[in-house]
Amino acid sequence: MSTGMKRHLLVTTVVVGFGVTLAAVALMAQGSKIQRGADIAPVPLDMSGLNPALVREGSYIVNAQGGCNDCHTIPSYAAGGNPFAGEPTVINAACYLAGGAPFGPGIVSRNLTPRGPDHLPANRTLDQFKEIMHHGRDFRNPPDATPILQVMPWPVYGNMSDRELEAIYEFLRAIPTIDPRPAFCGPPM
Ligand code: HEC
Repeated sequence: MSTGMKRHLLVTTVVVGFGVTLAAVALMAQGSKIQRGADIAPVPLDMSGLNPALVREGSYIVNAQGGCNDCHTIPSYAAGGNPFAGEPTVINAACYLAGGAPFGPGIVSRNLTPRGPDHLPANRTLDQFKEIMHHGRDFRNPPDATPILQVMPWPVYGNMSDRELEAIYEFLRAIPTIDPRPAFCGPPM
């Protein structure tokens, strides 16, 4: 083997080795998000017919990054579990993502739990869900306020990758249905 070929082989080995290491690190990071997602899901998850890894990844995005609970679970925390009152955090599982928060005239956060004849999150298809996250489209007819959702931070969420949006959607398919939303899942009267 010529010196040139040896050098070429060495460089290739180093580059491929680096690539494999990067892929392994990325897989480990993904694995720890999936594990963490499983640990922090505040409600029992029904995985039947779903992809469990995708559900858990979605749980990570919703419960560690997305903050969906802040607006879509009312009250967001169980009695005695309000971190803003210095209490150890307990999410209000009985109302988890069932919506009901008022945000000014005519605007109320929506029920995201699986519903309707096809048991879909917020009774929306995956395509509709992506349209909501990318363009803020209000599929209600007539819409709550304007044809564009006015409160949802969809301009931020819309930056997520397709896979991440699919993970959120898969997670929302696995959470318990709350329908109709009981009166205790809402602002105090
Ligand atoms: C700042 C409050 C807020 C946050 C945070 C938030 N939402 Fe919303 N969301 C709303 C409100 C309010 C509406 C309905 C009215 C509007 O925005 O005008 C809504 C509507 C929606 C809809 C439309 C449902 C339908 O009926 O078509 C979906 C889906 C949704 N949110 C999902 C999410 C997800 C998933 C997250 C977290 C990644 C999230 N939201 C975080 C406030 C919020």
